[in-house]
Amino acid sequence: MIKYVAGIETSCDETSAAVTMEDRVLSNIVSSQEIHEKFGGVVPELASRAHIRIITDIFSLALQKAGIEKDNLDGIAVTHGPGLIGAVLVGLNFAKGLSKALNIPYIGINHIEGHIYGNFLSNPEIAFPHLSLVVSGGHTQLVLMREHLNYQIIGKTRDDAVGEAFDKGAKLLGLGYPGGPLVDKLAQTGDDEFHKFPRAFLKNSPFDFSYSGLKTSLLVYLGTKDQDFIKDNISHICASYQRAAIDVLVQKTLLAAEKYKVKSVGVVGGVAANSLLRRWMTEEIKKLQMRFYLPELEYCTDNAAMIARAGMERLRSGLTSAPDLNAYPSLKLDTSVS
Ligand code: KG4
Ligand code: ZN
Repeated sequence: MIKYVAGIETSCDETSAAVTMEDRVLSNIVSSQEIHEKFGGVVPELASRAHIRIITDIFSLALQKAGIEKDNLDGIAVTHGPGLIGAVLVGLNFAKGLSKALNIPYIGINHIEGHIYGNFLSNPEIAFPHLSLVVSGGHTQLVLMREHLNYQIIGKTRDDAVGEAFDKGAKLLGLGYPGGPLVDKLAQTGDDEFHKFPRAFLKNSPFDFSYSGLKTSLLVYLGTKDQDFIKDNISHICASYQRAAIDVLVQKTLLAAEKYKVKSVGVVGGVAANSLLRRWMTEEIKKLQMRFYLPELEYCTDNAAMIARAGMERLRSGLTSAPDLNAYPSLKLDTSVS
């Protein structure tokens, strides 16, 4: 009987540990590494070292907050890809050690699968077939689920991920890192029709995405303006850029939802925290008379509770990982490695 599951997530720059009991989150500790801010992006080696320094303390804190001892755990779920290889290995080896010491099973979880299951934490009633728009710093995918643990990728990005477009755009505008929340905040007071940035709708691939052109068009646009103009109009530029980035996500998701006749639609991953995406998608899906689900903000960005929830689903189906499971920087959602 799998009741208490510990989740471990170290695939990028968040060190996170969580404990779930059935569908409930008992604790979800997330420590974000601030060291990368001054570099304007995540430095892989620094991320691995920071994970090593605090993973034991973060795990102890998660147990303490959950009010249970480690001997109460029935299983461990850990991200084993995709992500920064060194960073993923820290969490994976930690989970393997725990599994051996406590003599309980562990299971490797695909980080994207974790994001999708973060939505089930907030909305356990999600009905299949379910369409998930996965939008993060590394991924932009439309994933069709006909049942639990069954995934069909029906669209993905050809180049940059949408979160990357937010982060790189923010960098060009001289804002900090990560850029998504900063652009979102500035856009609140801006005019989103101030400048028309391009939207990539790909011929013959209605569900694939492309974001490199958007970033380049911002670079070209800023090159024609002086610093004072940019400073005075920063909120309008952010609003216009954000509108272009989100517009494509909304249109393609609606098209896919209709084509695959799904019962419900979800948006997951760090960019699911974006206020325009949340608002716009809620309105549009309502018009299609489908159910629409968003994770609470805590389960949008990287966290271990979502990994524990996906782990519970797998462990309960009798799946476990072998002691020699590897970390995979480009692990695909539809390849199962255990
Ligand atoms: O899922 P996540 O925490 O990490 C990855 O797996 O990549 O996503 C991080 C991404 C970053 O690109 C960040 O800028 C973006 O999510 N993000 C946002 C917002 N909050 C986070 N993008 C747009 N609007 C936001 N409010
Ligand atoms: Zn993520």
